[in-house]
Amino acid sequence: MADREGNIDAKDFGLGIPQKNGEGFFLKGNAHAPWGMKDRLSRIFNPKSGHSVMLAFDHGFIMGPTSGLERMDLTIVPLIEYSDCIMCTRGALRSIVPPTCAKPISYRFDVGTSILTDLNDQTLQDIDEAIRLNVSMLACMVAIGDPVHEGRTVANMSKTVDMGNRYGIPTLGVTAVGKNLVRDARYLGLASRICAENGANVIKTYFCEEKFEQVTNACPVPIVIAGGKKLEEKAALDMAWRAIDQGASGVDMGRNIFQSDSPVGMILAVRAIVHDGASVEQAYEMYQTYKSENQK
Ligand code: 5RP
Repeated sequence: MADREGNIDAKDFGLGIPQKNGEGFFLKGNAHAPWGMKDRLSRIFNPKSGHSVMLAFDHGFIMGPTSGLERMDLTIVPLIEYSDCIMCTRGALRSIVPPTCAKPISYRFDVGTSILTDLNDQTLQDIDEAIRLNVSMLACMVAIGDPVHEGRTVANMSKTVDMGNRYGIPTLGVTAVGKNLVRDARYLGLASRICAENGANVIKTYFCEEKFEQVTNACPVPIVIAGGKKLEEKAALDMAWRAIDQGASGVDMGRNIFQSDSPVGMILAVRAIVHDGASVEQAYEMYQTYKSENQK
């Protein structure tokens, strides 16, 4: 049996050494993926920067009409053009996202319980629906450490990978929110690695203040960070900068964009960090300038 304590003491993360066996494709851990999958990943991640700014607005599937998402037609649609990829549910896609937006879709593929009951009791949709909607990635949550739902959600993700592989659609393993989520490198590293080991092509997890580079280094596929709760804009930009600096391949950010007092200014500033190597100061100035020039 594998040593339960082994991961606690893990220390040889090869910091600064790029992952090997990635020749021929820009995205970590996906060099051996088939053509269709590489094509979809190259629409989500910019092959020049190797990074992506995904706009997440799937929150309603567990939270209902949370702040900023009451009227997605008014608040989200104007932001879509500034994103590289949108992360949402089928309900949002069908009802408010213009099919003409031509953005790759990271599709909320698992469905389940809400914040009013017990999170993470999930099941999967039909792959036919994802194909009909022409999605570019299947997103599935994995609740590591949840004594009730861990096994089921890992099985869900494994099935998602199998279905995605059948049709050349990559899987986004999402380390779940819930009472078992601990924002430290040990938990996030464990959860991310389990998603990758079970076949996810990309992982979405949270940033942690200490040793985040261990999370990215110990994960053989790209990591994008969720933004989490709304922070002051400069703090959110600082988090994005540190995540990229420590090996993240992008952000899959929601509330820190759509709950900002200048959502367009904020997504432009995040883009500058993720794609152009802007400093936090430069990005913050960009946000402030956009905000002051576009005040109602
Ligand atoms: C929940 C999700 C959300 O898309 C995610 O939390 C991103 O949004 P935010 O930046 O607001 O945290 O995957 O499981």
